[in-house]
Amino acid sequence: MQTIPPTMKALVLEKYGAPPIYVDVPVPRPGHSEILVKVIVSPINPADLSFMKGYYSSQKKIPVTLGSEGAGIVVDAGADPYAMSLIGKKVSILVEKGQHGCFAEYAVAEAIQAIPFPDNYSFEEGASGLVNPLSVVLMFKKVQEREDRAVVNNPAASALGRMLYRICKHNNIPVINIVRRKEQANLLRAEEGCEHILITDEPNFEEDLRNLSEKLDATISFDAVGGPLAGVILKNMPDGSTAYIYGNLSMKNSEASQFDLIFKKKKIKGFWLSTQLKRIDRKQLLELYAQIGPMYRDVLATKYIKKYPLFQIGDAVRFYLKHMSEGKILLSTHVNKVEEIPYAPQARL
Ligand SMILES: NC(=O)c1ccc[n+]([C@@H]2O[C@H](COP(=O)([O-])OP(=O)(O)OC[C@H]3O[C@@H](n4cnc5c(N)ncnc54)[C@H](OP(=O)(O)O)[C@@H]3O)[C@@H](O)[C@H]2O)c1
Repeated sequence: MQTIPPTMKALVLEKYGAPPIYVDVPVPRPGHSEILVKVIVSPINPADLSFMKGYYSSQKKIPVTLGSEGAGIVVDAGADPYAMSLIGKKVSILVEKGQHGCFAEYAVAEAIQAIPFPDNYSFEEGASGLVNPLSVVLMFKKVQEREDRAVVNNPAASALGRMLYRICKHNNIPVINIVRRKEQANLLRAEEGCEHILITDEPNFEEDLRNLSEKLDATISFDAVGGPLAGVILKNMPDGSTAYIYGNLSMKNSEASQFDLIFKKKKIKGFWLSTQLKRIDRKQLLELYAQIGPMYRDVLATKYIKKYPLFQIGDAVRFYLKHMSEGKILLSTHVNKVEEIPYAPQARL
């Protein structure tokens, strides 16, 4: 077993809406069903930014160590046999409810919120391994259960949007990819090989969406932008279509017309990973984990562009906000300066 030091560096939030502080804190201890993970890399997710501002669904008691997701190695565990079985494994973790997040040298996660991945994969490959991959797998499960023949994906150039496109392509389900900028369309063509891409501010956007969704029979949309655009997309999908709203990037309420809801039998619903997870039992979840870990290199791969030292969180967030579609930003206590992360699109599908 690795030696665990008494204290560690961590990014701690002391007040919602205020910048976090980089401090020395005690290394946390895992509870009965928890694991202690030596964190190597952790991505900045939109949910982390919302959480810091105090906007996320669940506020935690403060002070709290930030960082909802990350990858590392399990160095200790509580007495629960499954938690103990993970010691020594490379894992991707989600720190959903706990106080000891991944923007630190060590984090504590529930063992059931850790996905083991192969030893020959890098920590970077597993860094965004839980929230987006699991959401995408469960979104795709909906497509299969409902027997939709094609999917509308907005915003398609996000990390999740790219995974959703790939899992559909892998299963021969066509995807209409929606982006807001031409550069994003170029990226998706070059890096993912997307065939159908529509840009929201182009004059023919609605007409093109209507024709394409009719032709492909795209009756389900997954949308993290929300706002009035969600209603525009639903309006231009076939009768009976359902829009699943899974994010609020526009910071505006999603809208749909009464005409579409009443006469066109269209629906607008929410999708939240936490709620979806309540519908599957532990055995099914562990089966999903066994499938997901090995897919971090292709179908469920995430593109990263830079790795920042943890203490440079301010610079990292500013860069991330300007370059979201280009790839994720990682934080780490294992680097002292900003590092570029090369991307190999040929390693994808
Ligand atoms: N409900 C759930 O269970 C669940 C689970 C996982 C993720 N999510 C949500 O999924 C979304 C995507 O996450 P991610 O990690 O894939 O994000 P990401 O990789 O950081 O990408 C964010 C994307 O959103 C685009 N964007 C931002 N604001 C926008 C706006 N107002 N209109 C149109 N596009 C906008 C960005 O485009 P630009 O480059 O043009 O800014 C970028 O392409 C987030 O909202 C996240 O909270 C929800």
